[in-house]
Amino acid sequence: MTGEIREIPVAPAGQRGSEPPAAEVLLDIRDLRTYFHVMDGTVRAVDGVSISLPRGGTLGLVGESACGKSVTALTMMRLLDIPPAEIASGEVWFDGQELVSLPDDEMRKIRGNDIAMVFQEPLTSLNPVLTIGEQISEQIRVHLGVSKKEAWERVIAALELVGIPSAAQRAKQYPHEMSGGMRQRVMIAMALSCEPKLLIADEPTTALDVTIQAQILELLKAVRDRTNSALLLITHDLGVVAETVDRVVVMYAGQIVEEGTTTDVLLRPTHPYTVGLLSSLPSGRTRGTRLSAIKGVVPSPFNLPPGCRFAPRCRFAWDDCRTDVPELVSSSTHGQRARCLLHLPGNEARREAAFGSPGGGGQAVTAEPGPVPATTAEHDHA
Ligand SMILES: Nc1ncnc2c1ncn2[C@@H]1O[C@H](COP(=O)(O)OP(=O)(O)OP(=O)(O)O)[C@@H](O)[C@H]1O
Ligand code: SF4
Ligand SMILES: [Mg+2]
Repeated sequence: MTGEIREIPVAPAGQRGSEPPAAEVLLDIRDLRTYFHVMDGTVRAVDGVSISLPRGGTLGLVGESACGKSVTALTMMRLLDIPPAEIASGEVWFDGQELVSLPDDEMRKIRGNDIAMVFQEPLTSLNPVLTIGEQISEQIRVHLGVSKKEAWERVIAALELVGIPSAAQRAKQYPHEMSGGMRQRVMIAMALSCEPKLLIADEPTTALDVTIQAQILELLKAVRDRTNSALLLITHDLGVVAETVDRVVVMYAGQIVEEGTTTDVLLRPTHPYTVGLLSSLPSGRTRGTRLSAIKGVVPSPFNLPPGCRFAPRCRFAWDDCRTDVPELVSSSTHGQRARCLLHLPGNEARREAAFGSPGGGGQAVTAEPGPVPATTAEHDHA
């Protein structure tokens, strides 16, 4: 993502407005398409993405660089420049409201209040001339309308919640007086200080060293358990996903290519791209590994393959894959879905050759079970 972040204006009236989801669904993104109109043409950064998250649920959004993870989150937060961005279609239902068509002032109330976002580099998100206490306090007062005294008490409580020692003294420090790990804790404290219903964390640990990464992840999990905020975690890192979230959505070239429980997707992948991601991990280690080792390159957004977008890199591709556009279909007997022709009737033999078991959802022949940490089993609720 480049460029200044600004608000997206309201979508034309009457374009949206189908039925809201059931009350237990906190977030329901429906067929979202976000395009960028640039000099060389149109980048379909998000191209028909649908994601659902229950209240208090946790979901990981993974995929290689430029597959549309951040643009998905920034679109739902209405934090992109329009133009060059265009929300070509789709709806984002959050807590019973459709966000794409929401007036700006109502969207502002939701942002930072009901939905909070933590970015990769906390230093750029913090104001260098205000103490961290002043920044968190200001946010609390704007969103919760409480007195100065109560806001300050909430600041201290939020800093303590994220494990910052001597919180009262730390609150009086400036961002540059803190380490990267401490600043990320401050960002999480700030995000959680208004008790959001949804926390979006976009690569929250990428800039940190491995030990601090582990601490921040533990913190995210602990705070989530205590506050019951839902968590949408955006990452390259399958180890982080295995340890932190219940469900996973895998994106490739602007589209979802696989989704399911964390255990199913990481231990029994049903899309060749997910298989490739898992195979490319060094055995026995996942965290801190960026997803860059699959053979071939992500297609240019200006020149997408006509059939399956993964076909040029797929070791199981055959002629149909270069002409037929795959839909997201059921790919296992327990709720997994994959965008791959192997899961269509008539392709059973090829599917068995690729995934090793009839019916799909079996252990992929090329995926190493080793890299996925044992903690994954904790998330199995299939
Ligand atoms: N402001 C913009 N103008 C033009 N194209 C953009 C803009 N922002 C994003 N894109 C393009 O949209 C696509 C998706 O980008 P996005 O930032 O969502 O990727 P990502 O999956 O978050 O990648 P990373 O893992 O590197 O953060 C990319 O091709 C990117 O170049
Ligand atoms: S549709 Fe074909 S090319 Fe695409 S992922 Fe499936 S097997 Fe590979
Ligand atoms: Mg990103």
